[in-house]
Parts: sequence; structure tokens; C-alpha cells
Amino acid sequence: MQKPQQYRHKEIKKNSKRNKKRIKTPKTTIKMPNDYKVSVRLKKDLIRGLGKHSHHRAAVKMLPTFVRATPDGTEKGDYLALDLGGTNFRVLYVRVVEEQQKVVKMDSKICSIPQEMMLGTGEQLFDHIAQCLGEFLESQDLKGQTLPLGFTFSFPCEQKEIDKSILIRWTKGFSCSGVEGQDVVKLLKEAIHRRGDYDIGSVAMVNDTVGTMMSCGYRDQSCEIGMIIGTGTNACYMEEIKNVKRVEGEDGRMCINTEWGGFGDDGSLKDILTEFDEVVDQTSINPGVHTFEKMISGMYLGEIVRLLLVKMAEDKLLFKGETSEALLTPGQFETKYISEIEDGLENAQKILTALGLNWDPVDACVVRLVCDTISSRSARLCAAALATISNRIRVNRGLDHLKTTVGVDGTVYRKHPNFSEELQAAVRLLAPKCDITFLVSEDGSGKGAAMVTAVAQTTCILPPSQQGATNPAAKKKKSVRT
Ligand code: GLC
Repeated sequence: MQKPQQYRHKEIKKNSKRNKKRIKTPKTTIKMPNDYKVSVRLKKDLIRGLGKHSHHRAAVKMLPTFVRATPDGTEKGDYLALDLGGTNFRVLYVRVVEEQQKVVKMDSKICSIPQEMMLGTGEQLFDHIAQCLGEFLESQDLKGQTLPLGFTFSFPCEQKEIDKSILIRWTKGFSCSGVEGQDVVKLLKEAIHRRGDYDIGSVAMVNDTVGTMMSCGYRDQSCEIGMIIGTGTNACYMEEIKNVKRVEGEDGRMCINTEWGGFGDDGSLKDILTEFDEVVDQTSINPGVHTFEKMISGMYLGEIVRLLLVKMAEDKLLFKGETSEALLTPGQFETKYISEIEDGLENAQKILTALGLNWDPVDACVVRLVCDTISSRSARLCAAALATISNRIRVNRGLDHLKTTVGVDGTVYRKHPNFSEELQAAVRLLAPKCDITFLVSEDGSGKGAAMVTAVAQTTCILPPSQQGATNPAAKKKKSVRT
């Protein structure tokens, strides 16, 4: 039976008063996780991931990136950048200009990756990438050169060297066969050689978090953390090499790709998972993998809200107990609706109408509250993780107070009306001794990848730039573009 309107009003008010801490339905409670407890658990997991013997069973992989320095502003040169991590693939031609202390993005091309290709064979995927790159080089008159290339490949990779990177597992909806366990640089080069009409110079493999940190690091040299909250979520930071037990050396620092999306894969977050998180996980193409990411990132937030709304409608707390075909269809409640709904009630009404729902004004308010609860949970979980990393850097350096910058990117962080504010407020509470500046990255995956390649060359872990070198694979040598 539907609750009388008056009662429902009271319930909403009561919930808002509790500062959105929990949304109650007769059988379901979404509770805000205890941020502090989450942070303490992650702190232990970071150490486990860095350990020589504990690493293999660690949920948070803490992968060495072989990036040992952030930019110092003297980098320069022309680079190619590839960016694969979502449904689009991008190729860029980037010029880094030393005198002007800036990175100039010169040109770029986007190729979509069709769903079938995301689930097809690795060979098809890399042939598609090589084709897209070939078309771009042709259009830019660059086929005769062998430019150094930064490859932003936003999946967990065990990096053996900056140019040898083994895919541990696919995430974010990709599942191409024959790539897990393989060196991605080798697969790219093989695809290019299969074509035989152009070649590339030295390759630096880059996670998007690292590109984000490095692109911000060029503008602000105290940027030592990179964070992504978009389709997926992850962070990297500069760790003392002596703590990275799987890498030789005692002095200096190395950037660690935490792959914090995997936090909870060993069951450590079981007590804060809701029935909705469990359904999202079970219906994903990689159940049991990237538990933390599935509570936070853009690929999953819309689906969590949809499942909650269906449950509330079934429990007769919404839409007069009715649903609609769209609401019952997985994926139909897009994550961008969360931002739009939280931005204004009129948006909520338009979206509910478009979803074929029979709503009243109270329903629109409740839906907005549901969106707010799920996005707040996401922001606070991210905040807990970021606070853990900042505190770790502070303690590593024996500082009472740390001043640092985080380079950030991702649609959830950029587009949601109050996600960034909520995240920053929660970090201040959880890491009171860290003074953190947040810098939204400008094209970390493109310019940042070029920057990683440039720094790798200046720190001698990659051969120097081969700009303008004759390319034997190319049919005719073209002049260097200026
Ligand atoms: C996923 C990937 C990770 C990437 C993140 C953000 O978590 O595993 O490598 O950084 O998404 O794109």
C-alpha cells in the first residue's frame, strides 16, 4: 500500500535532516560508510601491495611505473601520444616547448572503439589502433618520422620497464582475448609492423593517473599525486623507492600506480557493500574485480541509482509503486543523470518523464536525494582513499605538515555539481595535517603522456628523441613539420 503523501513528506524531511546519512526503505538501508575505517583499511593494503612477498595476494596492486621524476620545466620536443581507456581511442601530436614552459597540443584524432571490439580479439583491437594512428600520421604528413610515443593505457599493468608493460587484467568493460599477461608495447609494435607503412620511436607506457600527475606537474612542481574519477577510478603518487620492495634501489622516489579500484577484492569492504553494489558486481563482465571502483566511478553510479529506484518503487515508496520499461532496463539510467538531477529539480522531472515514469513532485525530491546519497558516498570513499595516500606521503617524509598538489581528472569529478567540494571537505577532515591543492588536469592522457616520455628521455630511461630520423618502414621520407 502506498504511504499517505503527508507521511512521505515527513520521511523525506527526516532523511534530509540526517544530512543525507541514510536513505531508508522498509527492507533496505543505504548507510554512509565510516570514512575513517575505510582509510585505515586502505593504509594496510597499500603496504601489502608494496611488499615483495605480500604483493601477489594484495587487492591494491601498487604497481611501479618506472617514472622516477616529475617534470622540471626543461622538457622539450615533439611526441606522439595514444590514449586508450574508454570507449574512444585518441591519437595526438604534442609539442613541448621549453622556453614558454608549456605543452602545446598540436592536433588529434578520435576513433571510436565499438562494443564488439571491446569484447573481441586483441589482434583486432591493436590493428584498429595501428590503423587509426596510421591515418593520423598520413593526415599530418608525419609518416616519414619515427617520433617517440607516450601510450596512455588506462588498465592495470605490471610494468617491467617504462617500455615493457604486461596487462594484468582488463577493467571498465574491456575483455579482448589474448592480451592479459602480454606486453602491450609488443602488441602495438607487432600491429604496426603488420602494416609496414610507418614506424614509431621509443615508447613510454603511461597509466592515465600518471599522465594526469605529470601534466599538472609541468604547471605546479609540487604535484605528486594523480587521481582519476571518471569511467573508472584510480590514483598514483610518488613513493620512496626504499619502500617499493619489488624494485631495486634505496634512494629517490618512484611513481606508484595504486590501482585502488581493486580495494575490497579480497572481501575487506564486505561490510559496507549494499545489495545494489552486489548486483552491479554480479552483472558486470568482471565479477569480484575492482570492488571499490564499482562503488565510485561513472561506469557504475547510474546503475546503482537505477537499482535503488526500482527497489523503492517495488516497496511502494516511489512512483505510486509502478516502474517503467526504461527503469527496468540495465544501463538506462545514465550516470550523467545523477549530475543533472542534483543540479535542479526541473532536470529531475524531465529525466523521470523521459524514463516513462509516473512521478509526482515528492517523487522528484526523493529521486534527487537518492542521487545525492550515492554521489556523496562515492565522493567520501574517494576522499578516504586520497587522505590515506596524502598521510602516507607526509609520514614517509617525516613531516609534521605536508603541502602538496593533486592533479585530478575524470567526468565524475569535473561534471558533478558538488562532488569536488564534498570530496575536498572530507579530505580536510581525514588528513588535517595535509594542505592539498586540487588542480584539474588539462588533457593528462595526451599532454601528460608526452610529458612522461619527455621526462623518461631526460632521465635516460628511454633513448633520446629521434625526431626527424629516417624511417625505413616509410615509403618516402617527409620533411619535419614545424
Ligand atoms: C581503471 C583502471 C586503471 C585506471 C582507472 C581510471 O581502474 O584499472 O588503470 O587508471 O580505471 O581510468
